[in-house]
Amino acid sequence: MTTQQFFSTQKSIQVATDKREAAMQNPGFGSVFSANMASARYTAADGWHDGQIAPYAPLAIAPSALVFHYAQEIFEGLKVYSQEDGSISLFRPDANARRFVKSAERLAMAPLPVELFLESVEKLALTDRDWIPKQRGSSLYLRPVMFASQAALGVKPANEYSYYVLACPVGDYFKDGNSGISLWVSENYSRAGIGGTGEAKCGGNYAASLAAQAEAQRQGCDQVVFLDSREKTWVEELGGMNIFFVFKDGSIQTPPLGGTILPGVTRDSLLKLAARLGIEAREEPYSIEQWEADARSGKLVEAFACGTAAVITPIRQVKRATSEFAIGDAKAGAITLQLKNALLDIQQGRAEDPFGWVKRLA
Ligand code: COI
Repeated sequence: MTTQQFFSTQKSIQVATDKREAAMQNPGFGSVFSANMASARYTAADGWHDGQIAPYAPLAIAPSALVFHYAQEIFEGLKVYSQEDGSISLFRPDANARRFVKSAERLAMAPLPVELFLESVEKLALTDRDWIPKQRGSSLYLRPVMFASQAALGVKPANEYSYYVLACPVGDYFKDGNSGISLWVSENYSRAGIGGTGEAKCGGNYAASLAAQAEAQRQGCDQVVFLDSREKTWVEELGGMNIFFVFKDGSIQTPPLGGTILPGVTRDSLLKLAARLGIEAREEPYSIEQWEADARSGKLVEAFACGTAAVITPIRQVKRATSEFAIGDAKAGAITLQLKNALLDIQQGRAEDPFGWVKRLA
């Protein structure tokens, strides 16, 4: 069997147009799911098998499955776009496939081969292509997930895994994101430590961020921003997004990856895109004290969050335990908008793709 035939579409379904269109009106983020899902299973004896695209349906999982006890779980997020010419495309799916392998290795799970990841997302995108919204900034968000399904207790890597991919038509992640989000600087909680799982895309990292996110909300803020766990000095990332700073001289900066920060595909794309647009881009540590001082002096003029879900979302306000500061004139800045438009234009086929990032599907 060639890997191109691994995921069978025999059981896939189509739903009536009116039902689909009703579901796709104002989908928001993460609450509407398409007709089908991809899935596959792994056992130590048989390797990866049983790949299929079949109707979206609840899973049958043993209550003793290892994932429920020791959290062996990883996931990804990538988007399918409608192109100007009517075709559909994925954005850098190979980058997500490779990160999925790395996350699996960090969590001692059986990695899903890159070709199988790519086949699963491509086939699901093609099967559910009618679920791709057409408006600018909207897309079909794919959520690949893998978890330890072996029924057992005992802290050890599982020998059985389940993989599946969901597809969600989505609009903006933040309801009023274009007018900017506010951040709460977490001083009590850390997201990741050196040698931990910070650079893996595993559910545990997000679980660990939730108490801090709840604290941010109690403080009236949209999102939490984490500092490094050792010195509580260096800005690392938000609960589920990377961060960039924009300076008056037109340069941009983002914290360097060092094991504790998620290597975001959007983050990497922006660094490359900036270089091409003639914007100086640095990967350098930035302290919370310097951020506040630079925002107050006017040296820093913009900041934004970025991720597959968030795309590029301006930051307008930062709140700490002892102070609060605004970013620039608290509106989306010129460089933030320039990068956002340049990225969306490539993703949606409105501009040339000099990087070969856009993978058009048949
Ligand atoms: C993504 O950007 O794809 C994520 O996984 C982050 C989450 C906030 C939805």
